[in-house]
Amino acid sequence: MSEKEFDAGIYFIGHISTPWTTRDMCPRNPMETDKICQVILKEEFADGLKSIEGCSHILLFYWLDQADRNRLQHQPPIDDKIHGVFALRSPSRPNPIGISAADLVKVEGNVLTVRHIDCLDGTPLIDIKPYFVHADSKPDATVDWHQKRSNPLPPRG
Ligand SMILES: C[S@@+](CC[C@H](N)C(=O)[O-])C[C@H]1O[C@@H](n2cnc3c(N)ncnc32)[C@H](O)[C@@H]1O
Repeated sequence: MSEKEFDAGIYFIGHISTPWTTRDMCPRNPMETDKICQVILKEEFADGLKSIEGCSHILLFYWLDQADRNRLQHQPPIDDKIHGVFALRSPSRPNPIGISAADLVKVEGNVLTVRHIDCLDGTPLIDIKPYFVHADSKPDATVDWHQKRSNPLPPRG
């Protein structure tokens, strides 16, 4: 990254434990996998979990710590065109924040068992929010370049 001043500081509030240790092994999006994973919150933030057990789905925000933060454009494998990182879900971006809408399977103390997440084992956790259908779901959403992409989506798994 070029010489820049930070605009904000964030705490890593925990980490995410997943079966994937290399980027190649990782699912490319949360719906590509239904493997069970664990979100481990630091004890000092555990009070913030009060009432979360009643949430069927949660939004997980994490720091894609192995990402390239300098890249602003990228050619995804599924297209022959270059796109800006803000039109992509690529981990490469100035602030490499990842997001997954995960199923919340179980809460045990400071450990959340979840399904549908796509990050490497040990990825730092930034935030957890409840998923609200009325606020977060846009079933008619479209991404033009993705619909017109040159290459088919590779098979899952
Ligand atoms: C396409 S990104 C999408 C991330 C998130 N679901 C989102 O939309 O913000 C998912 C890919 O990021 C990469 N990745 C996962 N964990 C990472 C980490 N800790 N650092 C850098 N890259 C990571 C893996 O290659 C994975 O397939």
